[in-house]
Amino acid sequence: MSVLPDVVQVDSYEELASAAARWIDETLRRALQTRTRVSIALSGGSTPRGAYQLLATAPLAQTVDWSQLEVYFGDERCVPPEQHNSNYRMAREALLDHVPIPESQIHRIRAEAGDREWAAHAYGALLPDALDVLLLGIGPDGHTASLFPGSSALEERQRKVATSRAPAPPRDRLTITPSVIEAARSLLVLAAGSDKARAVADALIGPAPARQVPARLARRGHWILDRGAASLLPLKP
Ligand code: 6PG
Repeated sequence: MSVLPDVVQVDSYEELASAAARWIDETLRRALQTRTRVSIALSGGSTPRGAYQLLATAPLAQTVDWSQLEVYFGDERCVPPEQHNSNYRMAREALLDHVPIPESQIHRIRAEAGDREWAAHAYGALLPDALDVLLLGIGPDGHTASLFPGSSALEERQRKVATSRAPAPPRDRLTITPSVIEAARSLLVLAAGSDKARAVADALIGPAPARQVPARLARRGHWILDRGAASLLPLKP
């Protein structure tokens, strides 16, 4: 029986957002005690939006010195940054437009570039050897970032960023590769909804390898789940 990693179950999306914002705040502040510059890679999708909004409002907005942060992204859809389904746009609207972080310290993935391989290589060169904080989500199919089951990006061991194809639009993506997840100093995975329950259980306690359940790469992280997403885990009620 696998020992369950670091999992917190909450009762609502609001509690998930609050717990996530507090974890991010505490983790950033702890890292800032020993380093003058701290890197965080934001996840996309919809789940983290509530946590980002809380980080951008009092009291949390005043606790982190945003001028000491370098903000990256774990993945991006190959769409213009102003498009509704851009991860960058979501992060800007929910967080980055509301905190005092210098523009030069926000590192957007230029995934709309015509030459995606070049964009992947360029972003890989920007990423630090080890992110201080990496935020991730999980899809019902077990993907994380834009590492989808069976993706060749899961076998990439040299590059930090690779192109990938999603099973649903927007299909073309750029994503961090497994080595970036493995090197991250702190990992947070957020999941809400019973449609994630199977993927969460497979990632945390299932035998399937990361090739089939990419979110397994984040198994060592801190997971904050609502009841639906945690419903197939052997957690105390
Ligand atoms: C993306 C994300 C992706 C996301 C999961 C969960 O670009 O979509 O990086 O990995 O975290 O698909 O998405 P939701 O939070 O919308 O359920």
